[in-house]
Amino acid sequence: MQTVQDAAALRAVIRGWRGQGQTVGFVPTMGNLHAGHHSLIKLARARADRVVASVFVNPTQFGPNEDFERYPRTLAQDQVGLAEQGCDLLFAPEVATIYPFGAAHSVSIHVPQLTETLEGAHRPGHFDGVATVVCKLFNLVQPDLAVFGQKDFQQLKVIERMVRDLSLPVKIMAAPTQRAEDGLALSSRNQYLTPEERALAPQVQAVLQQMHELVGKGHAIPVVEQAAASKLARAGFDVDYAVIRRAEDLAEPAEGEREGLVALVAARLGRTRLIDNLPFD
Ligand code: PAF
Repeated sequence: MQTVQDAAALRAVIRGWRGQGQTVGFVPTMGNLHAGHHSLIKLARARADRVVASVFVNPTQFGPNEDFERYPRTLAQDQVGLAEQGCDLLFAPEVATIYPFGAAHSVSIHVPQLTETLEGAHRPGHFDGVATVVCKLFNLVQPDLAVFGQKDFQQLKVIERMVRDLSLPVKIMAAPTQRAEDGLALSSRNQYLTPEERALAPQVQAVLQQMHELVGKGHAIPVVEQAAASKLARAGFDVDYAVIRRAEDLAEPAEGEREGLVALVAARLGRTRLIDNLPFD
């Protein structure tokens, strides 16, 4: 696997593949890769002739009091894992390559509506940063397809909407959330958890399962949401939301609506914020 830092080198390699009629799959990441990321690479590997991954800790998607500085940067280890998964090319750009006029002065992409709720409401500006960097990376790599994890459900919806609205010629593929044996969704941020918090963390997934069961039994959605938030709060979580939404557009379901729903939770344990979701289909 080759690693390149600058746009010209990236484009030269991809141009060579294109010249041979090969298709390109792309997996954008912020590094510190785990089995969840590796499953995205595997999916891209199965669907495209060549696989490009990026590792870029994107400053514009972090709020002023978030973990940009302490976000784990483990490039050497990431390179080994990517090579093992059959990734062909790693793009690991400097901030100046992605933001030539500075991150604060970049053109910014705002996806309306979808970004005004849930993560968007709790992390103002986060999805503008995500949409902007993903659009820039798509322009650099020009992939046929790109793979995103369902773990960041709202992010996936935002990217799908951006691609459709801007007519970007890339197919978005969703990969299922990878979990530890006890149900905790894999995330680079799990390593911030203390042993006590790590023992509590799988309750997020347990609560999502319970939300699914209760809705299946016909309980009213607001009651299910309230019960989920209370259960997490009693267990020691600081709950941002525990809700059931329409998977399509994250809008609140109409009364009696039971098809195409998803349960989503965001909650803090100490200084770690966990997010997870469970599509009901
Ligand atoms: O999901 C992530 O790791 C990031 O939000 C992404 C898509 C790589 C954009 O920086």
